[in-house]
Amino acid sequence: MKVLALVGSPRKGGNTDILVNQVLEGAQTKGYTTDKLYLYDYTISLCVDCRQCKKGDRVCCLNDEMELIYSKMEEADVIVFGTPVYWYGPSAKMKMLMDRMRPFVENKKVKGKRAVLVIPAAEGKGACGPTAEMFRLSFLYLDVEFVGTVYAEAYDKAEVSTHPKELRAAYELGCSF
Ligand SMILES: Cc1cc2nc3c(=O)[nH]c(=O)nc-3n(C[C@H](O)[C@H](O)[C@H](O)COP(=O)(O)O)c2cc1C
Repeated sequence: MKVLALVGSPRKGGNTDILVNQVLEGAQTKGYTTDKLYLYDYTISLCVDCRQCKKGDRVCCLNDEMELIYSKMEEADVIVFGTPVYWYGPSAKMKMLMDRMRPFVENKKVKGKRAVLVIPAAEGKGACGPTAEMFRLSFLYLDVEFVGTVYAEAYDKAEVSTHPKELRAAYELGCSF
């Protein structure tokens, strides 16, 4: 069984990254193989609503590094979406990825998979509602099972490493797969 984590923060070693690592560590104790991609390392073009994914092979016709991310997502049993809150939504890079998930509506390649959300925010859980709701509705639309969220209140880089409760919650979520 495979867990794929997608980190939507530009800060490697930042709060999202630390929490995602905790989830993956938990999953590893249960025998899952894990993989992690930093979205900011990949060229992800903007969805232009060309609707080509509604025709033929039902795949995206844009030619970029999403190809690798699509194949990793298709192979995974559980996908961890990690994003900091930026203006009460996900980071722009994470939103670009979400927009590019449109072909999955047509080709159903993520149907039945499980998904987890990891969201740190300076203001804490109270600021995460719109982001969590965006993911919840999108997973519902894609027939992806939403199995849990980790929230954390953190602002400075790696601040969450001093928050044992949130670290534990992330680890336990990984153990629960
Ligand atoms: C452009 C930008 C917008 C942000 N907007 C919010 C916000 O609306 N609410 C909030 O609580 N924190 C906001 N933050 C703070 C981040 O969510 C917070 O610092 C988070 O811990 C960063 O996670 P990271 O270390 O994984 O990058 C914002 C940060 C940036 C850079």
